[in-house]
Amino acid sequence: MGERSSVAVILAAGEGTRMRSRLPKVLHPVGGLPMVCHVVQAIEAAGIGRLAIVLGPGHDAVAAAVKRRTERATFHVQEERRGTAHAVLAARAALAEGADDVVVAYGDTPFLTAASIGRMREALADGAAIVVAGMRPADPAGYGRLIVEGDQLLAIREERDASEAERAIPLCNAGTMGLAGAHALALLEAIGCNNAKGEFYLTDVVEIANERGLPVRAIELDEAEAFGVNDRRHLAEAERRFQDGRRAAALAGGATLVAPETVFFSHDTELAADVTIEPNVVLGPGVAVEEGATIRAFSHLEGAVVRAGATVGPFARLRPGSEVGEGARVGNFVEVKAATLERGAKVNHLTYIGDAHIGAGANVGAGTITCNYDGFAKHRTEIGEGAFIGSNSALVAPVTIGAGAYVGSGSVITKNVPPDALAVARGQQVEKPGWAKRQRERHGK
Ligand code: UD1
Ligand code: CA
Repeated sequence: MGERSSVAVILAAGEGTRMRSRLPKVLHPVGGLPMVCHVVQAIEAAGIGRLAIVLGPGHDAVAAAVKRRTERATFHVQEERRGTAHAVLAARAALAEGADDVVVAYGDTPFLTAASIGRMREALADGAAIVVAGMRPADPAGYGRLIVEGDQLLAIREERDASEAERAIPLCNAGTMGLAGAHALALLEAIGCNNAKGEFYLTDVVEIANERGLPVRAIELDEAEAFGVNDRRHLAEAERRFQDGRRAAALAGGATLVAPETVFFSHDTELAADVTIEPNVVLGPGVAVEEGATIRAFSHLEGAVVRAGATVGPFARLRPGSEVGEGARVGNFVEVKAATLERGAKVNHLTYIGDAHIGAGANVGAGTITCNYDGFAKHRTEIGEGAFIGSNSALVAPVTIGAGAYVGSGSVITKNVPPDALAVARGQQVEKPGWAKRQRERHGK
């Protein structure tokens, strides 16, 4: 199939009124990734050469989100929302460039797979002028029905336009269609709007192709793959399905999830084998956990790499740019941001580490704060290999603690500390022998 040229049209112009949102529907995330980007990923994984995204007016944010995932997309604004065929024709310029295979997908079906797109392209390669993805949903209400005779798909009947007998058909339009590039524009341009909604239905292309004696096929997809999001209830259901899939994949990949239903993944989470994840952990976008590492209960990670054998949590927060080195430890109530902990470093309790580098084997005591922000700019803290930071210290950045140096507890460090030195920066202790006893006697206690 490598020699066949291809273009995909992704319809994303819908207002998504039922979402009741200022955000365009296709930008609502599933697994931390906008729905339309899930579709883009499947299209790209299927080896489709060009992508044409159909947007609603003012939906620049949709274009921006897609541009972050691919450089091969063009964007086409559908000025008026006059139906799915009208939407495809908004990308006329992309179709006019010509391609052997044209694939039309909807931006609100985040579970579409590359394998199914591949099956549709195979049908086109076998000579179909049109191929439609069908499915058998438990509840077919709202879907178009596929009217099939032998292996020829005769028509797709939208529910509003269907007869009683047609509504009884269990095979429904899943919403993805392949068209032979040689026929696509001519067929699409023949579509009218004589139907219950007065819209230009993409689905009418099937009957038009039949009138012209062209072969039209249907393939069947698993219903789960065709799941479409129209409202927030569907969005929550899509998230649930996504999380269930990722949990199963993590277990199959050799991770231990103590309570899988309480661990939340993102689209790009990477877990190596023999990782253990305790209950109630959220893995935001951009997290990789390497072999044998443990994420303890109630931790929140985002944009972070946890190297082999490291331990994070319980109750830890890793923000973007965090790297926890091999065998290193980040303990309870510790927040790390844009910081690297080298191998075996320990930050065990109640600490903020931001914009910092912590050398191998260094030990950062409870309650340490890297004061990285002066109200205007962020500054870096460097803690050398094997250094020891006493509890409740404030390291006022920019500042460097040399390798093997020791900072006395309760210090406010504002100047660099040379390697192997002791720095103490706190009020001197004053002692008055017998003072407390005299006070008690004076007050008769
Ligand atoms: C559509 C199909 C139906 C199928 C169902 C599967 C048609 C006429 N009907 O119905 O057979 O069973 O999907 O989920 O195609 N869009 C635009 N511009 C428009 C209209 C729609 O971009 O003018 C986009 C929407 O953003 C959406 C997609 O096209 O991503 C589908 O539109 P929607 O209104 O949701 O179609 P359904 O009624 O669900
Ligand atoms: Ca829909």
